[in-house]
Amino acid sequence: MIIIIGIKYKLRMILLECHKSFMIIIINTGIRMLKKEVLDLLNKQVNLENYSSNLYLAMSSWCNAQGLEGSASFLAKHSQEELQHMHKLFNYINETGSQSLIHSVDAPENIFKDIKEVFKLTFQHEQHITNKINELVDFTLEKKDYATFNFLQWYVSEQHEEEALFKSILDKIEIIGLDGRGLHLVDKEIGKLVQGK
Ligand SMILES: [Fe+2]
Repeated sequence: MIIIIGIKYKLRMILLECHKSFMIIIINTGIRMLKKEVLDLLNKQVNLENYSSNLYLAMSSWCNAQGLEGSASFLAKHSQEELQHMHKLFNYINETGSQSLIHSVDAPENIFKDIKEVFKLTFQHEQHITNKINELVDFTLEKKDYATFNFLQWYVSEQHEEEALFKSILDKIEIIGLDGRGLHLVDKEIGKLVQGK
């Protein structure tokens, strides 16, 4: 009879003990498991990053339909970045021996009033994500999960950059305006951000 205890990701056998007719194999993962509450919040964040990607993709599609090519390509690229944020979390969860769970994602808005509304919504959405990341960081400290706390610092810096980026686009829209050739100029400026021009 074989009893296997503690089978998890990246198995490492540490003890093999024979006792009469029983063979007991104790296997230690050597990997720190996440606390359930931390895991649940990280999985929610996976879902949120997935939603962010879909939201920006829907916005990109709307811009494309309006002939706003610069904004469409900027938002499509940003949608890809949100997927990378999701995968980074997904990989971290799985590396700890826990399981990242993929849930259904709410449908984003598909119709917008104008380009100003699009970027107002992106800025508000990034502020919402920042709040969620901050809640997660607070919670990991409360639970003394220092490894996850450390992992999340990348997201703290990233959110600072995201908010600054979308705020700068809103400022451009305010300064240039959308009247006459304004819309064309705004779209051109946003398109330049894709190549970092
Ligand atoms: Fe993100």
